[in-house]
Amino acid sequence: MEYTISISAQPERAVKDTKSIPFGQQPTEHMFVSEYRDGRWQNSRIVPFADLTMSPIALCLHYGQTVFEGMKAFAMNDGHINIFRPEKHYQRFNKSLERMCMPQVPKSLFMEALHQLVQLDGSWVPTEMDGSLYIRPFMIATESRLGVKISDEYLFMIVCTPAYQYYAKPLKVKVEDKYVRAADGGTGFAKCGGNYGGSFYPTQLAREAGYDQVLWTDSKTHEFFEESGTMNIMFCIDGKLITPPLSGSILDGVTRDSLLTLAKEKGIATEERPVRYKEIIEALESGKRVEAFGAGTAAVIAPIEVIAAAGKEYTCYIGEDALMYQLQKDLLNIRKGIAPDTHNWNYII
Ligand code: COI
Repeated sequence: MEYTISISAQPERAVKDTKSIPFGQQPTEHMFVSEYRDGRWQNSRIVPFADLTMSPIALCLHYGQTVFEGMKAFAMNDGHINIFRPEKHYQRFNKSLERMCMPQVPKSLFMEALHQLVQLDGSWVPTEMDGSLYIRPFMIATESRLGVKISDEYLFMIVCTPAYQYYAKPLKVKVEDKYVRAADGGTGFAKCGGNYGGSFYPTQLAREAGYDQVLWTDSKTHEFFEESGTMNIMFCIDGKLITPPLSGSILDGVTRDSLLTLAKEKGIATEERPVRYKEIIEALESGKRVEAFGAGTAAVIAPIEVIAAAGKEYTCYIGEDALMYQLQKDLLNIRKGIAPDTHNWNYII
């Protein structure tokens, strides 16, 4: 890979206390940029974080040809920096790009850019147990024309921001039985911008009704759970970890996959199967202990305290001994280098 690195004039960390800043509002000092033109990636570089200049008729601004990823780096207990499962994120990025007719990113370009950028801005990686560096690779279509077409030009970029707890408290969620996030054959499995923009309106309605997020159901019957907000949905009932199976309308979550793997290793039964929402409501009505949580890179585990369905509210278990917290701790211990990384998930810089 060929690129030049230009380094910010102020290598010192500019912001000392990033914990008080809301998620995603404080970029680190540098960003990675690469341009796709004439069928190849070129002019790859790491530069000081700055605004972009682009044509008002750049295709991404009109037709939504955009894809992003979200991954995290952790400060390990021995002082090293660890990027968690970058290869799995890389594979998902390229799958999303394929669905959106955007060019693949070579693995060497992706990994080298990631490595160099995180190394350069390493002093921004929070060292606290609840802190991490959120890494946002993304691609946008930059060809300048209004005709509806697949762009011939793109920018691939990576930016980073220190991150702490995504949600301050357990969530109240509403089962969504009118609007849909994704349908079979659509783009639900891809991390493309439109999936998020399209979810704002139903989420806004849920907020106005007093809820934090929606619990999406399938587009055909509204009987089966799909995801919650921007996360995969998981339940612990009768000692089992249950989650909807991957499909064309569900994101292949890296946290979801990691938690399923860790649960199996702990001897916890796992079920990846369609989850009828009435099954969960019945379990709650029968007085069973039901844990419900969202799993995602930004949120890690977001406990759900209240599920609202058909005008009624149900309370899920969020006690300290909940299985979800044990899995969260197991995951964090691997990321921080406290527990052995038997799956080679850690990419240590
Ligand atoms: C993530 O968890 O990485 C996400 O993409 C969710 C959100 C920050 C958009």
